[in-house]
Amino acid sequence: MPAEDEMVLLAADEASWPISSPPPAWFAALVAIGLYIVVRSAATFLLWLHRAFLRPGRDLAGWYGTWAVVTGATDGIGRAVALELARAGLHLVLVGRSPDKLARVAKEVLAAAPPSCKVRTVEFDLAVTGDDDARRGVARVVAAVEGRDVGVLVNNAGATYPCAAYFHEVERPVWEAVLRVNVEAATRITRALLPMMAAKGRGAVVNVGSGSSVVVPAFPLYAVYAASKAYVDQFSRSLSVEYKQYGVDVQCQIPLYVATKMSPVKGASPFIPSPEEYARAALRCIGYEASSTTQAERESSGEGQDAATEESSVTRPRKGARARRPNVLVSGPEWA
Ligand SMILES: NC(=O)c1ccc[n+]([C@@H]2O[C@H](COP(=O)([O-])OP(=O)(O)OC[C@H]3O[C@@H](n4cnc5c(N)ncnc54)[C@H](OP(=O)(O)O)[C@@H]3O)[C@@H](O)[C@H]2O)c1
Repeated sequence: MPAEDEMVLLAADEASWPISSPPPAWFAALVAIGLYIVVRSAATFLLWLHRAFLRPGRDLAGWYGTWAVVTGATDGIGRAVALELARAGLHLVLVGRSPDKLARVAKEVLAAAPPSCKVRTVEFDLAVTGDDDARRGVARVVAAVEGRDVGVLVNNAGATYPCAAYFHEVERPVWEAVLRVNVEAATRITRALLPMMAAKGRGAVVNVGSGSSVVVPAFPLYAVYAASKAYVDQFSRSLSVEYKQYGVDVQCQIPLYVATKMSPVKGASPFIPSPEEYARAALRCIGYEASSTTQAERESSGEGQDAATEESSVTRPRKGARARRPNVLVSGPEWA
């Protein structure tokens, strides 16, 4: 029990901080900042939960069209994405450089897909050096979808160095192939197919980027690879704004590590998805953000999205919508 004179002192202290008087301005500001941070973090977390677990994937065939083109479909992510697209009811054009691998994956797709699934293969080495060869390759892809309802293009094929190296140590054919596959081929194929989608008023272009150009400030010893993927990201973001009005959703999907032959991490784990796990999540993201850090069931927190990107996630289906025809773009097929 406090002595009587101590109780008098306590009562005096309480009296000097009357509850009815307003707190000092600095205290109110701190509380407001704290509340803002808590509410913002909670909203970001809830949004992430929604995107990762609750938001349904789109019916891709109904929304965009019944045929899909997948480059680099013979292995890793591309093969898994092709299988998932076929299970989702799309017909497929598989693009790859090895006829044996293409035939094997086509067989796997037909075995996994509904009986109505149609599969076509296009042999195309995306690292070809001559302009004529590149044009011929793209023309084969175009011929495979000519007259068909091409709805989804997945520019997945990717090349990198065989091992980490300083730029001056990388042989010219190696870094040139990285640029040809990751940048040039993706650009050419997009240029050839995107006008078809825009003309019918619906379609989705998915370009596979990389965390090396987005989630880290630099990616030393893989400089050309990381720079090529930065191109893919910005190319996609810009196209997504350009083609929104034509009903075409363009998206850069940004894997972190996925257990494929390209990845230094072999074998899936709770933190490293298998290509199959990755592909399931990747398909569920199509048509939403312009830039999506798909990683198994995890997705972008939304940081860094611009207004146009945010808007794209609420775009209504434009099935059968009449698009304004982008005359300049369909006037002459540059790939021919
Ligand atoms: N795995 C990861 O951790 C990771 C991380 C970030 C980004 N990515 C990106 O994800 C995409 C898929 O990579 P992945 O991990 O699935 O690698 P992957 O298993 O090595 O598969 C790459 C695919 O691209 C094809 N390809 C490579 N060069 C080609 C060429 N010149 N012409 C035609 N096709 C060619 C390969 O064909 P072959 O079967 O003939 O080799 C294969 O089908 C790439 O764009 C990659 O940059 C992967």
